[in-house]
Amino acid sequence: MPTKCYQVDELDQAAQALRQGQLVAFPTETVFGLGAIANNEEAVKSVYQAKGRPSDNPLIVHIAKAEDLFRFSGDLSLEVERVARRLVETFWPGPLTIIVPVRKGTFGPTVTGGLQTVGIRMPDHPLTLSLIQKTGFPLVGPSANLSGKPSPTCVQHVLHDFDGKIAGVVDADPTRIGVESTVVDITHPGQVYILRPGAITEKDLQKALPEIEVTDATRVIQSDSLEHPKAPGMKYRHYSPHQEVYALLPEELMKTLHSLTPDEKAKGAVIARDQVLSQCEGFAKTFSLGENVKTATHGLFAGLRAFDDDDQVQILYVEQLPDQAENRAYRNRLSKAASNKEGLPPRS
Ligand code: TXA
Ligand code: MG
Repeated sequence: MPTKCYQVDELDQAAQALRQGQLVAFPTETVFGLGAIANNEEAVKSVYQAKGRPSDNPLIVHIAKAEDLFRFSGDLSLEVERVARRLVETFWPGPLTIIVPVRKGTFGPTVTGGLQTVGIRMPDHPLTLSLIQKTGFPLVGPSANLSGKPSPTCVQHVLHDFDGKIAGVVDADPTRIGVESTVVDITHPGQVYILRPGAITEKDLQKALPEIEVTDATRVIQSDSLEHPKAPGMKYRHYSPHQEVYALLPEELMKTLHSLTPDEKAKGAVIARDQVLSQCEGFAKTFSLGENVKTATHGLFAGLRAFDDDDQVQILYVEQLPDQAENRAYRNRLSKAASNKEGLPPRS
C-alpha cells in the first residue's frame, strides 16, 4: 500500500481513512503520532502490530476539545477534578498527558492496555485538532516510530519506519518541541506524579498546583519506587538507533574523543552542542544540537536518527547534559537510548 502524504486541503480524506480503520500519522508539537480511531479495536490493534509494540503498553488518546477529558474520564472526586481543570486551563492545548480513571464503555482494553485508567491529551497543532474533529472521535497516537526506535520529529522519520505500511501521514513541518509530552498521574488525591518528563517541568506543574505535592516518579530511587505509579512504557528499552550510543558529559566526551585512534574516529559520529563540536577535530560525521538545552532537546531524536543509513558509523558519541531540573526530559530520553548509561565506553 503506498503511503499518502495528506496536504492541508486533504484532511477530509485522512479523516475518512481513519473512520475506515486505517492508520494515519499526524503531527503534534512534541513528536509525530501514529493515529487510529480510538473506538475501533481492530484499528487500535493494528497500531500495536505496525509498531511491534508490547500489548501491555497503553496508548494516549488525543482529543480536540478540552471538555472531552471529562466526557471520557470516570467519576472524579472533587479534588481530582479541580486538579484536572487547573491543568487543562494552564497547559492545554499542549505537551501534557493526563492520566485519569477511564469511563466504562468508552475505550476498549486495547487502548488502555487493560488498565482502569487512560492517558488523555489535547495536542497543540491546528492540523491535528482539525483532523480529530473531522474524524468525529478521538485518536490513539503513540509516537510514530517502530517500537524501540527514536521518536519521529519530521515526516521523513515517519516514512523511514512506515512507508508502505500505513495509509498516510499528514504533511507538516518538523515538530516544535522534539520530545514526547510530560505524562502525569492525577488519580491519587493531593498528589501529582510525573510518569514521564517532558517540556512541562516539575516546576511548571508545582506553580500551577501550589497546594498539591508534585513528585517526579521517574527520579525516585529503585528501592522505594514500588510505591510510586509508573508508565508501563518507561520500562522498555527505547529510542535506540542500530548503532551503539554512548552518552557522556562534556568533559568526559572530549576526553574520550581525543583518546580515539583515527580508525576508531572513522567509525564514530558525534552528536553534541556547538561548543563541544567546535573542538571535535578528526570527526567527519557530526550532528549539531544547537546551543542550549532547548535546541538540544529539540534535535536529540533527529540526531539519533541522522546516521541510520550510514553503514560506516557504528558508534554515536552523544553529549549528556548535567543532572539539573531543566535537563530532565533530555537526560531521560538519552539515558534510555544509551548503552553505557553514563560511564565511559569500553575500549576494544
Ligand atoms: O507527545 C506525546 O505524548 C506523543 C504524541 C504523539 O502525542 N505520544 C506518545 O505516545 O509519546 P507513546 O505511546 O509513545 O507514549 C505513551 C506513554 C507510554 O510510556 C505509556 O506507558 C504511558 O504513556 N501511558 C499511557 N497510558 C497510561 C496509563 N493509563 N497509565 C500510565 N501510563 C500510561
Ligand atoms: Mg513512544
